[in-house]
Amino acid sequence: MTAPLDDSQRFWDAHARRDPLWAVLSDAGKEARRWDVRRFLQTGLNEVALMFYELESRGIAVNHGATLDFGCGVGRLTQALAARFPQVVGVDVSPKMIETATALNPFPERARFVWNGEPHLQQFGDATFDFVYTNIVLQHIVPEITAVYLREFLRLLKPASILVFQLPSHPRRADDPLPESTAVAMADDAYQAAIAITALPHEPIKPAEVVTLDVDVTNVSGLAWTQQQFGAIRLGNHWLDRTGERMLQRDDGRTLLPETLPPGVACRMPLTITAPSAEGDYVCEIDLAHEGVRWFRDRDSAVLRFPVVVRSGGVEPARSIASESRSDPPAGGAGAARTSLPQVAPGDLTAADPGDFPMHGIDTDRVEQLIAASGGELVLKSADHSCGHSWISHRYVVRKR
Ligand SMILES: C[S@@+](CC[C@H](N)C(=O)[O-])C[C@H]1O[C@@H](n2cnc3c(N)ncnc32)[C@H](O)[C@@H]1O
Repeated sequence: MTAPLDDSQRFWDAHARRDPLWAVLSDAGKEARRWDVRRFLQTGLNEVALMFYELESRGIAVNHGATLDFGCGVGRLTQALAARFPQVVGVDVSPKMIETATALNPFPERARFVWNGEPHLQQFGDATFDFVYTNIVLQHIVPEITAVYLREFLRLLKPASILVFQLPSHPRRADDPLPESTAVAMADDAYQAAIAITALPHEPIKPAEVVTLDVDVTNVSGLAWTQQQFGAIRLGNHWLDRTGERMLQRDDGRTLLPETLPPGVACRMPLTITAPSAEGDYVCEIDLAHEGVRWFRDRDSAVLRFPVVVRSGGVEPARSIASESRSDPPAGGAGAARTSLPQVAPGDLTAADPGDFPMHGIDTDRVEQLIAASGGELVLKSADHSCGHSWISHRYVVRKR
């Protein structure tokens, strides 16, 4: 007799052998091992930074203790959580994902990866975690087993601790609201931002070096930036020549801002920039892009500019500037040197292609019943867009009673 998760293990293992980064984030153009490993990991830092901004801005307190990242894949989110929590456990059904996550792990003293081939989490005791997070995982698991995992997450949490999970409800129906429209211009007065970074890159950096900056963005206009209404707003950067007069490269890094940034409110987001590939003296310019509409500077918002010296003898690869300003930095900083990161994405394209990812949902009323019946209190439910326009999906924030 096959155990309930044997098929699932085989399926995800096959993806993990072939192209694990694309199996985790199937973005167009990133298939066939085309993900840049640093850029891929950066998406995890951005996602986790956004999530904590949303929790903090709603006054939802999270205990900074032991954390579970369920369905961790190659550790994209586990690593980002390990930059904030002292102990993080990534759990996955695929041994090959666990092997790859372990090989990519920059924080072995804070993050560990554990295989779980069971439709429950009994290998962990009651009340062992202070925070549980899972994203783009339950959507691939049949509803009966997801229901068990939801109960398990609440069992594993200490009282008053927080669970955050994403789960589709159903494929979009004719009577569901239309997907968010394309971008709509805000009033001209809304395009006013203050942008700052807490530390500038002082030493020369290497050609094509990847650096993560912590950027503080404040909405200094009198109007809320509401992406639900107006469309995506992202931090981004350009590269100019040393005089700052000639644009050499438009568009480099991009980080989504929180869903709503009210007037006068600030947020801190990571932005990964990639130095120009030729040695020289440059100016890096950071601005906000209202995607499909305009850059904020086009409405006279102040950009942040700073000089960057690029030399072959520059310093260590990929590091975080200003990460030491985080409230709970890991030893070595959130984006400490990752000298062991592979230059190319892991995987072997000659391995068999196991095919499309299964998708499942549970109706939101049923999810809310499950939460209540498992000792949880729903504190926030928000729209989630990670499974595209053809599904209605939500992110749930639950407090263990
Ligand atoms: C799309 S990936 C997402 C990975 C990770 N959450 C992220 O966002 O980077 C889905 C992951 O869920 C894992 N998974 C699927 N079913 C699972 C189960 N029953 N238990 C644990 N992990 C599971 C897969 O092996 C895969 O690594």
